[in-house]
Amino acid sequence: MIADSFGRVHDYLRISLTDNCNFRCFYCMPEEDYDFTPASRLMQPNEILAIAKTFVEQGVKKIRLTGGEPLVRKDAAEIILGLGKLPVELVITTNGTRISEMLPVLLEAGIKTVNISLDTLQPEKFFMITRRDVFHQVRSNIELLLQHKITVKVNMVVMKGLNDGEIKDFINWTKHNPIQIRFIEFMPFTGNKWTSNKMFSLDEILKTVELDFIALPVKSAPNDTAKGFMIPGHEGSFAIISTMTAPFCSTCNRMRLTADGKLKNCLFSVGETDLLTAYRAGEEILPLIKASIWAKEKELGGQLGKHFENLDADTLTNRSMITIGG
Ligand code: GTP
Ligand code: 5AD
Ligand code: SF4
Repeated sequence: MIADSFGRVHDYLRISLTDNCNFRCFYCMPEEDYDFTPASRLMQPNEILAIAKTFVEQGVKKIRLTGGEPLVRKDAAEIILGLGKLPVELVITTNGTRISEMLPVLLEAGIKTVNISLDTLQPEKFFMITRRDVFHQVRSNIELLLQHKITVKVNMVVMKGLNDGEIKDFINWTKHNPIQIRFIEFMPFTGNKWTSNKMFSLDEILKTVELDFIALPVKSAPNDTAKGFMIPGHEGSFAIISTMTAPFCSTCNRMRLTADGKLKNCLFSVGETDLLTAYRAGEEILPLIKASIWAKEKELGGQLGKHFENLDADTLTNRSMITIGG
């Protein structure tokens, strides 16, 4: 078992496969000419599998693959099929562009839920955010997943003045589609130009929804980051991820492995533990994992507090989002 000093058992591992991405979203990448980590410094498929096994032997029940964009990695299929053989729930967060090519692999690996990042339902705005003209491809890939009975959660990072006006459109999408929309409070990371006035809070999101719909809270799962709601008559549902204004750290069960093999005990952790170098040197990684999680801060990596109004994201000691994977 892996636990921290507050008694939180950690049984959910998020593995970033790469910091590379075929999109260029400004809120995730530090800048357009960002240098991706060279392949030699990335965990190789056998290394990912071996490190993941150590976590699974310690009670990890769920593994989420993230990026960058996990499916741009050339050996993504090998990694996914390998991890699919472990006794865990395997899930993935993706921008949705490579779903049609990868669907046979996802099905063979037993992936039953896919989280798709999609911040707008307007093709021009999609291009403005991602710098890629593939809105319709992502939409049709979501349809494809639904046709194959794969659960789809759509991640929409709400940014004031950019897409907060689309909350109603996203909710309307759930009327006849069994999808869950997750409205996410915009979070600060190195280089993402976050300011508190670009953030659209849980309260604001809920008030906006309630202008047009009746939203009924639903009971969330024990370690859920999202507060769930249903709307009578809608096939789908929505949820809100409120890291900034209503953090959910008291039930946190998450660990993160970056693509270069560093363990982060929190999304906002200052320190990292280099598991890959230790593994390559033939050292035992379990004591390193246990020590890292034991040292986890109570809330938000000890870095963010209630008073974030004047926070400068670049003063946080952290990585950029594209190298963490959310
Ligand atoms: P499931 O709960 O497993 O469905 O996934 P998830 O929502 O945790 O994962 P996903 O990759 O879809 O991330 C959605 C949003 O939640 C992103 O903005 C993540 O950064 C955020 N998120 C994921 N895990 C955590 C966490 O442990 N803490 C905080 N504060 N935010 C998180
Ligand atoms: N704040 C909140 N969520 C973010 N994501 C990326 N950057 C941010 C941010 N600054 C989300 C993406 C993706 C998930 C892994 O993290 O929407 O779906
Ligand atoms: Fe866990 Fe850190 Fe996320 Fe809080 S911010 S829920 S402690 S990972």
